Amino acid sequence: MSDPQPQEPKGALARFLAASPDSVGKTIFVAVAVCLVASMVVSAAAVSLRPVQEANALKDKQVNVLQVAGVFEPGIDVTEAFAAFEPHVLELATGEFVDDQFDPATFDDQAAASDPELSVALDTDPAGIGRQAKYRVIYLLRDDAGDLDKVILPLHGYGLWSTLYGFIALENNGNDIYGLQFYQHGETPGLGAEVDNPRWKGLWNGKKLRDDAGELQITVAKSQPAAGPEFYVDALAGATLTSVGVDNLVKFWMGDAGYARFLAKLQAGEF
Ligand SMILES: Cc1cc2nc3c(=O)[nH]c(=O)nc-3n(C[C@H](O)[C@H](O)[C@H](O)COP(=O)(O)O)c2cc1C
Repeated sequence: MSDPQPQEPKGALARFLAASPDSVGKTIFVAVAVCLVASMVVSAAAVSLRPVQEANALKDKQVNVLQVAGVFEPGIDVTEAFAAFEPHVLELATGEFVDDQFDPATFDDQAAASDPELSVALDTDPAGIGRQAKYRVIYLLRDDAGDLDKVILPLHGYGLWSTLYGFIALENNGNDIYGLQFYQHGETPGLGAEVDNPRWKGLWNGKKLRDDAGELQITVAKSQPAAGPEFYVDALAGATLTSVGVDNLVKFWMGDAGYARFLAKLQAGEF
């Protein structure tokens, strides 16, 4: 009597289970399973960490507002210190606050810049931003007596590799610069990223936007303009293109298409 022949497994699943671990089918199955599990873990982590990332981004922005206004100290309660700043939604075209239309605490002016209803496409676009939100969230800082001390204005524009996002802090006369700093950019470390260098940021303190005739004179350049040293910030060494970008974006936001109407009201003592 001969031995019984081994039975061929019946059905696809049975054939799969009986196949060698090195078979093409099992190899592909394991690769696909690993990919699926890994992508689910990554997706779950991304979704669950999003609120934390958003909270960190908000806190980073608040720290930057405190820093540019000169009130940040290490270890400070950021939320508490930031509460001293009075947010307003500013309509650029009129220089008026429109807090009755938009809540300053929640209005997202970066998102507004890509909303056709809330933004305009720029024909003249020296800052390289394409579209500009009609409304920006700005911050007023008052002294203990309730008088205006400083105003913090967001600005952004293209450097060499990236859009730089930051704030400028002005004194209550709307003309003297207290500070300028960027909280987000992708310029090269050691070159364009020297915009973050405290020594370079310090150059902005005490500079003026406009001359006595009201002409916008502030300039970032390699050499001092005729208007005088009080309107001049030395360009970054080895990063002329980023410096030109900063020059363009500061002029744009401080000019007629930016905060000029609001600053005129500020100078008139409206706030
Ligand atoms: C890898 C690399 C990265 C650079 N990154 C920057 C930058 O972030 N910002 C900038 O203005 N120039 C950057 N440059 C230099 C510019 O190409 C250009 O040479 C410079 O802006 C000219 O500045 P200067 O006239 O002060 O030398 C970079 C160059 C290289 C090769």
